[in-house]
Amino acid sequence: MSSTMTTQPRNSRPTRDALDVARIRADFPILGREIHGKPLIYLDNASTAQKPRQVIQAIVDFYETGNANVHRGVHTLSMEATDQYEAARERAGRFIGVTDPLEVVFTRNTTEALNLVAIAWGRENLRAGDEIISTVLEHHSSLVPWQRVAAERGARIRVVPTRVDGTLDMDAFRALLTDRTRVVAVAHASNVLGTILPLAEIAELAHARGALVVADGAQSTPHLPVRIADLGVDFYAFSGHKMLGPTGIGVLWGRRNLLEAMPPFLGGGGMIREVYEDRSTWADLPDKFDAGTPNIADAIGLAAACDYLDALGMENVRRHEVELTAYALERLATVPDITVYGPRNPEARTGVVAFNMEGVHPHDAGTVLDEAGIAIRVGHHCCQLLHRSLDVAATSRASFYVYNTADEVDALVDGLATVRRLYQRRLA
Ligand code: ALA
Repeated sequence: MSSTMTTQPRNSRPTRDALDVARIRADFPILGREIHGKPLIYLDNASTAQKPRQVIQAIVDFYETGNANVHRGVHTLSMEATDQYEAARERAGRFIGVTDPLEVVFTRNTTEALNLVAIAWGRENLRAGDEIISTVLEHHSSLVPWQRVAAERGARIRVVPTRVDGTLDMDAFRALLTDRTRVVAVAHASNVLGTILPLAEIAELAHARGALVVADGAQSTPHLPVRIADLGVDFYAFSGHKMLGPTGIGVLWGRRNLLEAMPPFLGGGGMIREVYEDRSTWADLPDKFDAGTPNIADAIGLAAACDYLDALGMENVRRHEVELTAYALERLATVPDITVYGPRNPEARTGVVAFNMEGVHPHDAGTVLDEAGIAIRVGHHCCQLLHRSLDVAATSRASFYVYNTADEVDALVDGLATVRRLYQRRLA
């Protein structure tokens, strides 16, 4: 699957950016920081994105002037907090084209959302002999919850490989899809290869076999215009912190009939209708999935992030990243001894570029780049199946977002030249 990029100069340095990046950068206080005396170049956005003042201020405002618990009081502050929290639910749904806020469940993050489906839906519905289709490029959070529930219920996981170009092997998917398949648990975009998966096609094929599709949107929602109706999936999860929002807040969207039929995930206050000594009955949506005091402030912060991104326009965000990724792929191809993973066509991927330099451990590359102020992620990126299939233990990964520039791509390439020089010297 790995492909050494061949140099085909296209001179793709972006000239007219779809975003006003200078203006955007001014909204992000952290971008004024220096690391080891160098301006921060933050290329670890697939791990977590930085936060604009607008998001930080929404959280500060809530704690300074609006803090109270939700759904529990008749006093003014509590009712205001409830209104803000429910407005955030509506806003988060609207960001992915959902009009029914009862289909929007707040979670801590994508991981918790996917565990919710595996546990609440899977425990109730999976039987011995059933099959769950996963893919080799899944993040562990889209695979491990299903492994656990499969072991409990006697179900089996089948894994779809990728093709050499880093796209999903749809022939293998079709071959694995049978009447035993109950769930297809699949990423919308890979956090290592950047590959964007054909969810609509996957959903159509899965539904024809009576299987549900649970999509991990952690790496797509921040970067592409997402319209749930166009994807045809049954569940879709994403995290606030990767889309300029705070940590600790995520979303599970699910079809209303499925969420209504599911038992609760967690038990506690807020999710019940009536409680007796030996049993309880459940509240309606959305409260059924809101046990305990929810993360009110960060839901409000997420709503501010949705406002920020929609003001930029998700089409523009996508265009900016495609241009930057095209440029990065072209520039990285000029660095000797580099292998870049994933589809070569920047339109087929998100702004995530994983690579390896021959003879250099990614941790060493990451450390040298850090000395130049450049933050990337190194390791297996919670994707051990994928790294095993690439036959490498780890990769380096640069990932772009709305505030990144072509100059920063140049700095990455210069930094990699330094990495190469240092390690060649050390090896000599
Ligand atoms: N899932 C996040 C990543 O890929 C943490 O870096």
